[in-house]
Amino acid sequence: MDPAPSPSPPTFLPVLERIAEEIERTPGRGRPADYIPALAARDPRSFGMAVAELDGTVYGVGEWREPFSAQSVTKVFTLALDLAREGDELWEHVGREPSGNPFNSLIQLEYENGIPRNPFINAGALVVTDRLHTRTGDAAGALLDLLRTESGNPGLTFDKEVAASEAGRGHRNAALAHFMASYGNIDNPVPDLLEQYFRQCSVEASCADLALASAFLARHGVRADGTRLLTRSQSKQINAIMLTCGTYDAAGDFAYRVGLPGKSGVGGGIIAIVPGRCTLCVWSPGLDERGNSVAGVAALDRFTTLTGVSVF
Ligand code: DON
Repeated sequence: MDPAPSPSPPTFLPVLERIAEEIERTPGRGRPADYIPALAARDPRSFGMAVAELDGTVYGVGEWREPFSAQSVTKVFTLALDLAREGDELWEHVGREPSGNPFNSLIQLEYENGIPRNPFINAGALVVTDRLHTRTGDAAGALLDLLRTESGNPGLTFDKEVAASEAGRGHRNAALAHFMASYGNIDNPVPDLLEQYFRQCSVEASCADLALASAFLARHGVRADGTRLLTRSQSKQINAIMLTCGTYDAAGDFAYRVGLPGKSGVGGGIIAIVPGRCTLCVWSPGLDERGNSVAGVAALDRFTTLTGVSVF
């Protein structure tokens, strides 16, 4: 029998250590999201960063094994799960253009007939979760299964307090869902959809978990066990949408600074994909005014600058 392949060496560990030191010395860190009360108390000075290699080797610096609220980072995984099931029909219900607007904006929906610009703004993510829920009967459960399997961490779970906290202030997402339902672009009863969506956003996972879980996008659609979740083309499509829409109205600046497909969440996490090479996840809860982690974007900027690794 062949010996088991040895794990990849932690090639990028020295660069991660240097970035963590630089971030530690940086004073401004933004503010944690306060529109979800359960997230407001997080310490903006927390910082963790992990790299996952394609063979499942993972390493990191700082609080890279500390769970945090994944929030909109989950939108990548629900999109993958739904696209894998329904294919291109999805694009009749949600677009693929940057919105240039805040992630929770309602403004384009009326003159664009209830079709959200892309799957990563809240309106688009609600459409994706709705369609995934129709196909699986449990969208949030399907998401959790995927995250657990791909991260190899069966302990991943929802944070009920965060989900309830968001539901208590969920008027904007409720408005988006009802408005799209009025155009016939939501299938499930809005309260059921919102429950699924808030559970989805409340997943607690660490940088290590999310870097590993997103590795199928660096493997061109292939899961950790070697089976395929997405076609190579679908994996390319999701990476492209992450690059153009993954950080909302800051996507142009993120592409300019980082040069990688990335997806942020208001818990302060950001995943980034280096197709064919590795994935990254960084976490720091202090956000800028567009909802992206200040230290997270800075750390990814430094990573691609110092290593020269990017898609460009
Ligand atoms: O729906 C919301 O507003 C949150 N659950 C998720 C928003 C989010 O993470 C946007 N990211 N930057």
